[in-house]
Amino acid sequence: MDDDWICGRLGEDEPWQLGAVNPPVFENSLFTFGSVAELSEAIKDEDERYVYWRGTNPTVDLLQRKLAALERAERAKCFGSGMGAISAAISSLVSAGDHVLVLGAIYGPTTQFLRYLEKYGVTHTHVEDLAGCDSAIRDTTRLLYFESPSYMRYAVVDIASVTGWAREHGLRTMMDNTWSTPIFQKPITLGVDLVVHSLSKYIGGHSDLVGGVVCGSTELIRPLALTEYQLYGAAMSPHDAAKAIKGLRTLPVRMAAHQERGLAVAEFLASHEKVRAVNHPAFSGHPALKQMSGFSGLFSLELDSDDRAEVAAFAGRLRHFRIGVSWGGFESLVITPAVTIEESVRATMGIPVGLVRLSVGLEAAGTLIADLALALEGVRRLA
Ligand SMILES: Cc1ncc(COP(=O)(O)O)c(C=O)c1O
Repeated sequence: MDDDWICGRLGEDEPWQLGAVNPPVFENSLFTFGSVAELSEAIKDEDERYVYWRGTNPTVDLLQRKLAALERAERAKCFGSGMGAISAAISSLVSAGDHVLVLGAIYGPTTQFLRYLEKYGVTHTHVEDLAGCDSAIRDTTRLLYFESPSYMRYAVVDIASVTGWAREHGLRTMMDNTWSTPIFQKPITLGVDLVVHSLSKYIGGHSDLVGGVVCGSTELIRPLALTEYQLYGAAMSPHDAAKAIKGLRTLPVRMAAHQERGLAVAEFLASHEKVRAVNHPAFSGHPALKQMSGFSGLFSLELDSDDRAEVAAFAGRLRHFRIGVSWGGFESLVITPAVTIEESVRATMGIPVGLVRLSVGLEAAGTLIADLALALEGVRRLA
């Protein structure tokens, strides 16, 4: 099964399709049964049987089947947001007294969620690399959580080395693969136990939905689907699932375009005198780059400036990159974390003041480069 086919056709030859090119949206909060006995059987298995929207729904299920196949996972469970997926999946793997290792920089709210778990007696330690893991591991460590490439700095983490180390130490691994999408990276084939995505980024692709998914073995996904999914209630709506299914139809070609445009923009910036650094995994020379078959369009640059007002003014001068959170849509976006996040958080995360994150959309690279060139002209360099 190739990815193009999975994105377009997998699961879409069901009898209820009637030859339609798009699947129906099952707008049903509940499903009915021929007998009470049949209903009570179905309630015991709300992951497989359609009973109530908060359990599952045929449109959401179709999306789950496609995402599991793309990630080469046995199962996938979709949620109402990426954070819904991440918080439920972490909760499913830890209990009071457990410890979590976090390798490299990760999405801020994921760290906030780990901090939140402290009130239930779950602790965590951030480390930079496997040597750090060796020193920080405890008898109570159960889970190793990471992203690759890492958050904001886009450093490549060698996934197979991390999962090998975790296996040797009896830990589960969980990885956020939102940056690459399963088109460019398949962490389960490299030994990761649970892969999470925000579907709100490239997979949705049109900035019109919020959703998340957890992919993994049936052994790990089934309890999560029957417990955390049902009880936390971060259910995905069939309408958002239908939009994500539409997003998948064009995901492979969109990712190729994001890659091409992102690299052209990154190369222009890397040669610009007012840019101190460009944080793009393609420029890292990391030996583990072969774990990825391509690059998305999200990366950061570091302006040759330590002045917040200067950095904010640079973003304000851009016309084709609009200022906004999130990323992975058709539209190009810019954000300046040093200006938008609290100073103490910025410093702890080691984000330089001059760091600017770009999400390169589907506009022509030449248009985006001209926009950046003009905005850079106004940047006053450090003496
Ligand atoms: C890397 C990463 N993971 C997870 C999330 C959370 O996803 P959502 O916004 O869909 O909850 C985000 C959102 O920005 C993200 O950037």
